[in-house]
Amino acid sequence: MSEQQSQQPELHSNGASGKEYRNGDTPRPRARAAGPVKGFSPRFAQIVGWGYHVPEKIITNFDLEQIVDTQDEWIRSRTGIEERHVAASPAETTATLGIQAARAALEVADIPPSKVDLIICATSSPEHIFPSTASIIQDGLGAVNAGAFDLSAACSGFVYGLSMARGHILAGDAEYVLVIGAETLSRIVDWTDRATCVLFGDGAGAVLMAASDVPGGVTASVLGSDGSGADLLTVPAGGSAMPTSLETVSSGGHYIKMDGTAVFRFATRVMAEATRQVLDRAGLSVDDVDLVIPHQANVRIIQNSVLKQLKIPGEKVFVNLQKYGNTSTASIPIALCEAIEAGKIQPGNNLVFVGFGAGLTWAACAIKWSVPVSRPETTWWRNTQRQAVYQAAAARSMWKRAIRRVYSQFPAESRWGGRKEEGEVG
Ligand code: ACO
Repeated sequence: MSEQQSQQPELHSNGASGKEYRNGDTPRPRARAAGPVKGFSPRFAQIVGWGYHVPEKIITNFDLEQIVDTQDEWIRSRTGIEERHVAASPAETTATLGIQAARAALEVADIPPSKVDLIICATSSPEHIFPSTASIIQDGLGAVNAGAFDLSAACSGFVYGLSMARGHILAGDAEYVLVIGAETLSRIVDWTDRATCVLFGDGAGAVLMAASDVPGGVTASVLGSDGSGADLLTVPAGGSAMPTSLETVSSGGHYIKMDGTAVFRFATRVMAEATRQVLDRAGLSVDDVDLVIPHQANVRIIQNSVLKQLKIPGEKVFVNLQKYGNTSTASIPIALCEAIEAGKIQPGNNLVFVGFGAGLTWAACAIKWSVPVSRPETTWWRNTQRQAVYQAAAARSMWKRAIRRVYSQFPAESRWGGRKEEGEVG
């Protein structure tokens, strides 16, 4: 066994009880299984690595009092938020935060970037309309064997991503999938609008999902959308519906616009409904749940949905929005990492991740946690190896760009062996 294999996390079986899977959730045969597949070989999608990264700069409610007409007391009592991290340096972007979070997740799993088959980056503040932020992250990680795409489902995006990753793994199309939620919402927030600027923060969280024979992992998911509420939470301009113009820039069309009360009402309803539905699909009752990690938008939404409607006690619901505000797609993976750090998650636990967001969208996943939560011992040598991999990725990327630049200096005839490209005249 190679050193790499020997250091992969050991998965703990919780017993294939039959209760955990309904017919629709039955894992499919392993497409890449070595040797003859006799009938059926169960396959599961486990979270084996996790990590997060937030910018250093913190803006407190008191800082905001200096910027807009607001009060710490109002923000804390209406939302629960006390401070948020903001990407103050231009060098901090959605992709750089995502790369840091993804590296941390790979380090926990002790898996090199070259083993990743797919990178899904859920984001509401992508680097560009295209290329995808996921492709930039793929390049930054040196994940040379990975496909990459962005997932747009606003704050529900990370849970949508887990569901997509599970599908790829159960279908046998991927062994390792990185699911990242990354945001620099501070760049699309109107810092003169007190109704929105107090709510959001920047950051990134990531998980590495792996194919496994051990029962558990992401066992069920529920995804929903109601596009009739598309106008309730939107960045109106900059897309094909309202292309960028002097008018869109001067009227603030590129900033987040929100009907907070309508979103609040929608969120409290769907958070409870989606949690109920996903538990039903996983064959679990509310009492079976050990921990709910809800989207961290507003503590009152969490209280009025999972706590009050489902009667889940507060100690089984993880909340950290007081430190980060609403980091959209990053909120659930950041909360997952902090719940692990706080000792709130142990092998054998039943977890629910549930989110809502613009679209309108909502999503929930049921997870049977099956891996040890202790971080692997890291050695000086291992860290040096990792740094070498990251530096090699940066060098590879620079080299490829340089080659393209040199290549583009040559006339088209010499590039294509004298053949003209389709559509080229003369
Ligand atoms: N400071 C002080 N006063 C404020 C502030 C502020 N930052 N913001 C609004 N107010 C005032 C309003 O002007 C209003 O004053 P008025 O009564 O004189 O008109 C008063 O406070 C009450 O305003 P409401 O909007 O009714 O306050 P509410 O209790 O509904 O809280 C909030 C507003 C926090 C935005 C709430 O509606 C909410 O959390 N909604 C959900 C938002 C959300 O989660 N969005 C993210 C979705 S995820 C995604 O996809 C990005």
